[in-house]
Amino acid sequence: MVLIRNAQAKEVDEVFDLIERGVKEGSILKRTKTEISSLIKNELVFVAEDNSNIVGIVILDFYSKRLSELRSMYVTPEYRNSGVGKMLVNALLKKAEQLKIKEVMTITLKEMAPWFEKSGFSEEVHGFKVALFKKL
Ligand SMILES: CC(C)(COP(=O)(O)OP(=O)(O)OC[C@H]1O[C@@H](n2cnc3c(N)ncnc32)[C@H](O)[C@@H]1OP(=O)(O)O)[C@@H](O)C(=O)NCCC(=O)NCCS
Repeated sequence: MVLIRNAQAKEVDEVFDLIERGVKEGSILKRTKTEISSLIKNELVFVAEDNSNIVGIVILDFYSKRLSELRSMYVTPEYRNSGVGKMLVNALLKKAEQLKIKEVMTITLKEMAPWFEKSGFSEEVHGFKVALFKKL
């Protein structure tokens, strides 16, 4: 049975390797071990575990109570479409609520937007705000 829990300090390498799988697939961005280690210490890294293996991950990058970001969401292909991603998002949102964060944003591939919308994410924030980007 898949269990969602906080990643532990000793799991930095395992978490890094899982993120690297996502990076190779082209779906998520690279993270350093130093970054991962600090996020784990702050209890912001959630993993899905099955039979002692980490099969999914999501990270809450805490910027402020005003706005934080869901990043590094990845489930290994063999565990997809069985609700693991949704459980990870739920754990992250629960943590965000505990931290009294008002808004969680995520930047994702266009084709993934409908998936996040099912968890309550929306392209429009409060109906009148939009996110703008400037490429440098
Ligand atoms: C995104 C991802 C984490 C989802 O993980 P998952 O464990 O498969 O998610 P869930 O099982 O909770 O959700 C699967 C459901 O979403 C549906 N779904 C899959 N892709 C979808 C999409 N692009 N749009 C809408 N629904 C989608 C599936 O059909 C399935 O529906 P069902 O529950 O009715 O069967 C996983 O696909 C993944 O790791 N992808 C590569 C990394 C990535 O794209 N990360 C997001 C960028 S941050």
